Amino acid sequence: MRPTWFMADASFDWLYPERIQQMSRRHWTPMRIAKKAAGFLAEEGKKVLDIGSGVGKFTLIGAHYYPRSFFYGVEQRSELHHYALAAQEYTKTENAAFINLNFTQVNLAAYDHFYFYNAFFENLATRDTIDHHIEYSDSLYQYYSRYLYRELDRKPAGTRLVTYHSLHDEIPPAYRLVETSADFFLKMWVKR
Ligand SMILES: C[S@@+](CC[C@H](N)C(=O)[O-])C[C@H]1O[C@@H](n2cnc3c(N)ncnc32)[C@H](O)[C@@H]1O
Repeated sequence: MRPTWFMADASFDWLYPERIQQMSRRHWTPMRIAKKAAGFLAEEGKKVLDIGSGVGKFTLIGAHYYPRSFFYGVEQRSELHHYALAAQEYTKTENAAFINLNFTQVNLAAYDHFYFYNAFFENLATRDTIDHHIEYSDSLYQYYSRYLYRELDRKPAGTRLVTYHSLHDEIPPAYRLVETSADFFLKMWVKR
């Protein structure tokens, strides 16, 4: 029987416990967005990193549809990282890997292209947060955004970046916008 996980959001979300499924609309990338973003980022043999990968939805969908690229996810919450690993095992996705760290502890120079579904926004949000286990603050939002900005600025020309619901604080001017969705939430960038 062909696996049906990757056909629609509802079937994919069944990989997770109910509490995680209920967060899907607010916190995890919709299937059609993930497919489009991954299509832009995937290049044969290249490494794509999802910064703040949650339960691995973007990473696993990208890896499934683009088996000649490698998809990685870095996630600070160990509970979500655990669910990402479980979903990877369940779907037998081989060209993906998950790292349980704060993204500031990862060597971003080791990756070619990046996906970013405004992971830092939780520091500004006042409701619907994932949990209350970590500290949220405006200054953490500023710190993370500036950190990522500096790292993206160091990347070579040709680096691709996809942002979803970004406030643009982490995007250096050297990144040229090449495509956007009609609602402007999804944006695709290439470094000059
Ligand atoms: C909006 S969710 C997106 C999840 C995933 N990228 C997706 O699209 O399905 C953002 C995730 O980023 C994680 N995150 C936020 N700040 C982070 C940081 N400094 N380092 C690593 N992960 C972080 C959060 O824990 C959350 O799981």
